[in-house]
Amino acid sequence: MVSRRGFLAGLAVVPLAAGCAARSGAPVPGSATRPLPIPPLAASAVDADGVRRFSLDIRQGTSELLPGKHTPTWGYNGSILGPTLRATRHESVAFTIRNSLPEPTTVHWHGMHLPARCDGGPHQTIAVGGTWEPAWTIDQQGATLWYHPHPHGATEKHVYRGLSGLFLVDDETTDTLALPKEYGVDNIPLVIQDRRFTASGALDESDPTDVGLLGDTIVVNGIAGAHLDVRTDRVRLRVLNGSSGRIYNLAFDDHRAFQLIATDGGLLAAPATLRNIQVSPGERVEMVVELRAGERIMLRSLAIEQRRDIDRAAAFGFDDTIDILQLRAGSLEQSAPVPDSLATMPALVAPGTAPDYTFELKWFMINGRRMDMNRIDMTIPVDSNQVWSVRNNDNWPHNFHVHDVQFQVVDIDGHAPPPALAGWKDTLYTEPQFTYRLAMRFAQHSDPTYPYMFHCHLLLHEDHGMMGQFLVLAPGQQPAPTRMDMPGMASMPTEGTHPGHHG
Ligand code: C2O
Ligand code: CU
Ligand code: CU
Repeated sequence: MVSRRGFLAGLAVVPLAAGCAARSGAPVPGSATRPLPIPPLAASAVDADGVRRFSLDIRQGTSELLPGKHTPTWGYNGSILGPTLRATRHESVAFTIRNSLPEPTTVHWHGMHLPARCDGGPHQTIAVGGTWEPAWTIDQQGATLWYHPHPHGATEKHVYRGLSGLFLVDDETTDTLALPKEYGVDNIPLVIQDRRFTASGALDESDPTDVGLLGDTIVVNGIAGAHLDVRTDRVRLRVLNGSSGRIYNLAFDDHRAFQLIATDGGLLAAPATLRNIQVSPGERVEMVVELRAGERIMLRSLAIEQRRDIDRAAAFGFDDTIDILQLRAGSLEQSAPVPDSLATMPALVAPGTAPDYTFELKWFMINGRRMDMNRIDMTIPVDSNQVWSVRNNDNWPHNFHVHDVQFQVVDIDGHAPPPALAGWKDTLYTEPQFTYRLAMRFAQHSDPTYPYMFHCHLLLHEDHGMMGQFLVLAPGQQPAPTRMDMPGMASMPTEGTHPGHHG
């Protein structure tokens, strides 16, 4: 199902000697892969007021996703992806962002708690040639966050062309715990994406499935056929599913166990020992895996298990087994075991708390409606705890993402969440016919004008209007949204565009 096109192209172009210094020197399957690129840490300068300043230029370029092929792509400060931004809790950050693309875009800080006007959703468009200068103070647990475009109706295209970067937040806990911490050495960012190419090596944007553009070639940190040279006996992988619609079920080829230490919003209370972990688009996981000197193991994606009632699962990639990244251990430095206890996680609400809002996910719609830039779906009092109940009432896969907050999964159909869903989340896979109760707190930031978004993070679904917006209001504030000169999606066809669905 998934071709090895990128891998075979690598065999043709890269001299075999490049990757097989180990042991015999005989060609080993996978030996012609290229070393995993590590996105550079973004340069920043702290000014006299203590503000950490970054600048990003969003531009076009060409990238060698496949060896020897020059693919037109988009990137931040480069031709693809973006530098890894890094800042510490309580630090103030400021950005100068220039749009050098031929079309408007936005920069959204996925997973970040921040003022709505800085959120970079569809209301914060950066015109062609324009600049945008958001600034805020970081106040949330250390975590693997990310940034990506969020233009109204065009997010999938912008992300697919290469726009995604990581935003690492550090805090006292992440600094002091004995966890692998050396960026690019034992603390490895992995942006996992699937892509399809035309014969000439351009990104193929044709023929989306009902879950969006589904690729047959895996690219990690911007290249196909990557391997990682491991130098420590424990390595921490900070994974982002940066795909449009592909869900990964990550495991190692020898089924070895690993420790899941963090999810979207940061460290779990305690590591969870797992053999596989499912990651849907937009979600992040951090895992620590142990290797022995000289070993080679493959990180791969197995068939998706959570598929009850999914119609046409094969067409959505659910049956695919795909190699993602080979890990090659040389001689290894010893590292400390993962601590038994990582972070504290007080429950936001009592179990059984009735939901403030319910959301039904079905066919590009939430509660039967599609996104309208000029419709506010809810107003929420600032500094309130909320319980939202989300149900996938469809036979498509969907997930659910909320801006501004990290949430806790209170229960799934009344049952406590499994360990992988027991930490802070901002994006949650929803399996058909299950109900997920989420608790979240909208602290500190209120704004009567600019809304935050909630949506399915399958990018095609988001673009087709599977999104809504809410204002967070201070006491006495009245909604005062600006009218956007942007179409709603109510006029887009619903019936008939996907024959066979719900038929
Ligand atoms: Cu990662 Cu509203 O998005
Ligand atoms: Cu987001
Ligand atoms: Cu969806």
